[in-house]
Amino acid sequence: MTRTTDPRGNRALRIRDAKLSDAPELAALMCEFDYETSYAEMHSRLQVILSDVSYSTIVAEVDNKLCGMIGTLTHASHEHNDPSGKIIALVVSKPQRRSGVGRALIAAAENDFASRRVTRVTLTTRFEREGAHRFYEALGYAKTGFRFAKNLPRIPQK
Ligand SMILES: CC(C)(COP(=O)(O)OP(=O)(O)OC[C@H]1O[C@@H](n2cnc3c(N)ncnc32)[C@H](O)[C@@H]1OP(=O)(O)O)[C@@H](O)C(=O)NCCC(=O)NCCS
Repeated sequence: MTRTTDPRGNRALRIRDAKLSDAPELAALMCEFDYETSYAEMHSRLQVILSDVSYSTIVAEVDNKLCGMIGTLTHASHEHNDPSGKIIALVVSKPQRRSGVGRALIAAAENDFASRRVTRVTLTTRFEREGAHRFYEALGYAKTGFRFAKNLPRIPQK
């Protein structure tokens, strides 16, 4: 997928699939998202994710600089017949926020979901991410539940 648009008329916004060579910029974006991530860590995560067709990783570039990403998963469901879609990660770099990049990434992810016959998309977001809550509501996503989380001990690998 490669699309070039210019929604606000003053810059070149490009939406495309992520590549392994995007690892340094994606690691920096994860750090902005409060998930400390080194280049090496992002490189090995991407190796796994990019080789699994259930995942999509789409990036945004403004004036040829990577400034946003969305990661999604399409999965079978125990509760629904159609495949379900999950937005796993979405972040836009601070200087580019509120200029339509997040909206363009969601539109690209929704197109990708539609091509995979997904009819229901979910995501979770922390209580304190109030800007993100308003963003998702503005794009037609409704609050439908709570997320519960628990950390489990890591079992040493043999
Ligand atoms: C949430 C996030 C991805 C939005 O990206 P963005 O590029 O700034 O969003 P857009 O410019 O496309 O906004 C689209 C619409 O959403 C709404 N919106 C976006 N951010 C908003 C905010 N902070 N407060 C209120 N409304 C907001 C507006 O209606 C906006 O349209 P408008 O600018 O024409 O008024 C970005 O703020 C971000 O990366 N936040 C930190 C990471 C995060 O919280 N990710 C989500 C975790 S699940």
